[in-house]
Amino acid sequence: MTKKIYIAGHRGLVGSSITKQLNKNQLLLKTRQELNLHSQNSVKDFFEKEKPTQVYLAAAKVGGILANKTQKADFIYENLMVQNNVIHNAYKSGVDKLLFLGSSCIYPKNCPQPMSETDLLTGKLEETNDAYAIAKIAGIVMCDSYRDQYDCNFISCMPTNLYGPKDNFHLKNSHVLPAMIHKFHLAKTQNENKVTLWGTGSPMREFLYVDDMAEACIFLMENYNEKGLVNIGTGQDVTIKELADFIREIIGFTGEIIWDTSKPDGTARKLLNVDKINKLGWKAKTSLQEGIEKSYQWFLSNYQNIKK
Ligand SMILES: NC(=O)c1ccc[n+]([C@@H]2O[C@H](COP(=O)([O-])OP(=O)(O)OC[C@H]3O[C@@H](n4cnc5c(N)ncnc54)[C@H](OP(=O)(O)O)[C@@H]3O)[C@@H](O)[C@H]2O)c1
Repeated sequence: MTKKIYIAGHRGLVGSSITKQLNKNQLLLKTRQELNLHSQNSVKDFFEKEKPTQVYLAAAKVGGILANKTQKADFIYENLMVQNNVIHNAYKSGVDKLLFLGSSCIYPKNCPQPMSETDLLTGKLEETNDAYAIAKIAGIVMCDSYRDQYDCNFISCMPTNLYGPKDNFHLKNSHVLPAMIHKFHLAKTQNENKVTLWGTGSPMREFLYVDDMAEACIFLMENYNEKGLVNIGTGQDVTIKELADFIREIIGFTGEIIWDTSKPDGTARKLLNVDKINKLGWKAKTSLQEGIEKSYQWFLSNYQNIKK
């Protein structure tokens, strides 16, 4: 039987990379204007009519710390609506396989490092993004529940921090890596002699290039058919200071970095244990250097159109 693959969120960071890596003739793609995933009726009609065989659920409301902290209601409502509508109608219309994308913020605030799949629901969540995390945890539990009750082959994966072409480079509402690229770029082009960054630079974070993430999603779609989430990451982390130095060098900013220590650092370390996916046979390939270079090239070529 021919595959009909629906990528929810195909214009986003992850969705666009999955789209790039799959056979175009098999894809079913809808923009938000064509299919708003908040609408129960529209999603029901879409699945009944199109009957996709596979679904990559990469549509979500996503943002950095500030957005998560200040728009908690929107984060929990919109993410629950999207995933409830898509997962339930995937079951109703007989989808063969669905992959749900969660996030590493589902793990407890004081989780032992590196964080393993078995650490889920073993402690309190980080307060700044608990609304988003609870929506994502609900998605994991939904996939497992539809498998238990209705025998659906629905799986879920938890990516670490992602970056790459089509990222959100907004100076306030984005994640740390794209925000740094934008800041250093502005400082260089406007001949500033210093850039101020938040915190001490000592927290450690993991970053995965988006094409590696998309490859891992396709790998899981083809090779993993069980209950329980799967972490996706590199298994390696860097300090925020090391990250800033990498980016500064790639962009060619020669001025000073000022660390504003009056601003919070966040959790000291956040690293995923990726033994499970490595044992299944997948490993990340792109080095941080190469990934940042590619992201910066994309940023430069698309500067006029990015969110500022
Ligand atoms: N980025 C990261 O660092 C990161 C880390 C861990 C996990 N994740 C997870 O990975 C997944 C993909 O994230 P991403 O970074 O690719 O996000 P993204 O770039 O913001 O893309 C999300 C996509 O979902 C679409 N979407 C959202 N609400 C919709 C709706 N109501 N109807 C139709 N489309 C809708 C958006 O459409 P519009 O373009 O119209 O807005 C966008 O194309 C998410 O589940 C996220 O939680 C991301």
